[in-house]
Amino acid sequence: MEVFSTRAEWRAANDEARRRGGSVGFVPTMGALHVGHRSLVEAARRSCDTTAVSIFVNPLQFSDPEDLERYPRPLSADLTMLEAAGVDLVFTPEVTEIYQRFPVMPETRITVAGPAEGFEGGGRPGHFDGVATVVALLFNLTGPATAFFGEKDFQQLAVVRTMVADLGMAIDVVGCPTLREDDGLAVSSRNARLSAPGRRAATVLSASLRAGAAVIEAGASAPEAESTMAERVSAVEAATLSYACVVDPTTLRAPSELIASQTYRLLIAAVIDGVRLIDNMGAVAGTAP
Ligand code: PAF
Repeated sequence: MEVFSTRAEWRAANDEARRRGGSVGFVPTMGALHVGHRSLVEAARRSCDTTAVSIFVNPLQFSDPEDLERYPRPLSADLTMLEAAGVDLVFTPEVTEIYQRFPVMPETRITVAGPAEGFEGGGRPGHFDGVATVVALLFNLTGPATAFFGEKDFQQLAVVRTMVADLGMAIDVVGCPTLREDDGLAVSSRNARLSAPGRRAATVLSASLRAGAAVIEAGASAPEAESTMAERVSAVEAATLSYACVVDPTTLRAPSELIASQTYRLLIAAVIDGVRLIDNMGAVAGTAP
């Protein structure tokens, strides 16, 4: 495994991998790697000749400087994990390598209007502009590649897909399925912050999504599925619902009506025992009246 810290080295290493006739699978991360990241690396290794991972905690996507300060940076453990996972190339730039006039932030920002609005973008103004800008920059430095993102952050995936399509970037975006615990809870580093009762209560998110998906699959409307999800969450004392919505999986807009056989996405977020958790699930609309 080779580790690079400058833009020029990273670009050259990826160019060299392609020159040898191979495809590059790219996994952008902010480090603090867990099994979810490992599954993205495994997906990249399965379908590409060279696996490239970046580790960069992006200040542009944090609105609270304390959150940025507190963000874990276990670089040596991350590198050990990536080496064991069979990664070929790792990019670990300093902030001044990415934002070259730091602390002055770049003048250029990418705004992906539709899918970045509401949900996780609602309470965090500029968050998805920060994500899209750094991902575009990393894509430019990496060059033509297949990029792997977790479906767990479904809104981020939709933002990246839209940006790549709208700007004609030479990147194939692959969404990888959310990893789940045996009881259905989506794997997330935030789960470690839950108390034992909070951890039990947290299963309400995936249970609500499954119930909402069943409603859609039975042919009912989006508002009916949304009420089903909301009722499930409100029955759990430790949970406060942020949103439970049925959306078009590309635009993340609310569909005016569900069309049979089309796939929709159910998005949910709730605060459980003081910890904000998100989850999502796909569902194909059924034909019942
Ligand atoms: O999902 C993340 O870890 C980050 O948002 C990403 C895509 C690496 C951009 O900083």
